[in-house]
Amino acid sequence: MSDAIRAFDLVAVTYDDWYNHPQGRQVFDAELKAVDMHIPKEGIGLELGAGTGIFAEHLTGVRRTVVCLDPSGEMLKKAAERGMASVLGVGEALPLRVGVLDFTYMVTVLEFLDEPAAVLGEIRETAKEGAELTLLFINSESAWGDFYRDIGSKGDPVFRHARLYTMVEVEALMTVSGYSVTERAGTLTTQPMETEVEGAITEPSSENGVIVLRAHAS
Ligand SMILES: C[S@@+](CC[C@H](N)C(=O)[O-])C[C@H]1O[C@@H](n2cnc3c(N)ncnc32)[C@H](O)[C@@H]1O
Repeated sequence: MSDAIRAFDLVAVTYDDWYNHPQGRQVFDAELKAVDMHIPKEGIGLELGAGTGIFAEHLTGVRRTVVCLDPSGEMLKKAAERGMASVLGVGEALPLRVGVLDFTYMVTVLEFLDEPAAVLGEIRETAKEGAELTLLFINSESAWGDFYRDIGSKGDPVFRHARLYTMVEVEALMTVSGYSVTERAGTLTTQPMETEVEGAITEPSSENGVIVLRAHAS
């Protein structure tokens, strides 16, 4: 088990507190909207690194099913308590039948992977032919990137394990793993210390705290 996974086990009990904080709730709403707009409206999807399952719960609908996968038993317990289908496992070796998934998405997970290309390659091999992949990640080149790097360097229990990426780096990772990026968007154009959050979806730039890339298997 990686140090990052152990760290998530330790913070699982209080992890969702951030989403109940007024600023955290607005960040959640902005990120949820960005992901919702960039995954298929129907089909069977996987949230890889689903954590407590809060995104998966909100993205599940009549036509869209989401399965949660996470290696942290403590985080996943929360997803199961939400009533989500929950699978304990790592992205590097998905314990799923090949050819079932219509799409996969990740929300701030890439940052915590030791071998991101191996995980993207595994998704590519496990999902259906032509299935979609959507990644939401912290923009390394933004004020939010600076903020998370700073708290990580000061020993934050979670962010000291993070490695942040630029959009160009993530797109390169997706491309070498067999994906073609079809849509690019950003959100969170307000600064980390501002209590009111601007959650409009924009063209991606260094103004965006997070970026979403949508791709299909090429
Ligand atoms: C920042 S949390 C994000 C959780 C959730 N997506 C959210 O946004 O609320 C990152 C998650 O990635 C998971 N993770 C870390 N390493 C992983 C791996 N190798 N495979 C799959 N998930 C992993 C962690 O256990 C943690 O739950």
